[in-house]
Amino acid sequence: MPESTPESVPESESESESVPASDQLPALYGGITNRRVRIRDLQLAKDQGERWAMLTSYDMLTAGIFEAAGIPVLLVGDSAGNNVLGYATTVPVTVDELLPMVRAVVRSTTRPLVVADLPFGSYQGSPEQALSTAVRFVKEGGAQAVKLEGGTRVAAQVELLVSAGVPVMGHVGLTPQSELVTGLRVQGRGEAADALLDDALALEAAGAFSVVLEAVPADLAERVTKELTIPTIGIGAGVGCDAQVLVWTDMAGLTPGAPLTFVKQYADLRGILTEATRAFSDEVRQGRFPGPEHSFS
Ligand code: KIV
Repeated sequence: MPESTPESVPESESESESVPASDQLPALYGGITNRRVRIRDLQLAKDQGERWAMLTSYDMLTAGIFEAAGIPVLLVGDSAGNNVLGYATTVPVTVDELLPMVRAVVRSTTRPLVVADLPFGSYQGSPEQALSTAVRFVKEGGAQAVKLEGGTRVAAQVELLVSAGVPVMGHVGLTPQSELVTGLRVQGRGEAADALLDDALALEAAGAFSVVLEAVPADLAERVTKELTIPTIGIGAGVGCDAQVLVWTDMAGLTPGAPLTFVKQYADLRGILTEATRAFSDEVRQGRFPGPEHSFS
């Protein structure tokens, strides 16, 4: 779609003065194809009631596919721990392990906003520690934003990062890096609801541009979404959020075992890949691959 269309031209003079016409196009899926999505586009989407989807990505090939499919935000999540690196949880993941993945996703895309997850232990110590980690992801990785887990307890970190020029995505509810303390269970039920809302509000006040709500009752997520002016991104948090995120291997059916309750599998990549692998192996054993068309004379 072209960058500017007659329908996109703002009607009032004051509107056109305050926001460039290109940014008043349908914010995410509609018209912006020649630059990366910015945090301002995500805010516009919330303001205009436009929902959007985020996916994790850890490599060049999936990043390219997700960009082509119109995903506006890619998260190089520490879920790489249990989806790429072979760990049982996200806890062991290090900055040095995530950085090459961030670089690959940034290098192989031009449009989505790329968010780098700050791994466990790389930001909780102090705002200064968070800043030096975030700067690595921005300068060495090329990320356009970072994500960290926690609410009020990391508000000082968020404030310093934002004041230094690093956009921050927050993450409350189930925060897998704290699973040794909280377990992996739904958060914010009953009396814990107000504290979760306070955490989200603390992140907004500290300058976060969005907040992930993970494994939170749907009515609470809707309440948080209404109270916050910045976008909420749900995962196991119902349809009332501004955006939704899934781990791509869950979404595409590559993850083994039964899917978690909040996961919808949109494909059976595990089945497809298993079939293809078996067919290749069989044809090699039977002498049917390579055929003449795959051979040089
Ligand atoms: O690391 C990750 O993939 C995440 C998402 C589940 C939000 O934090």
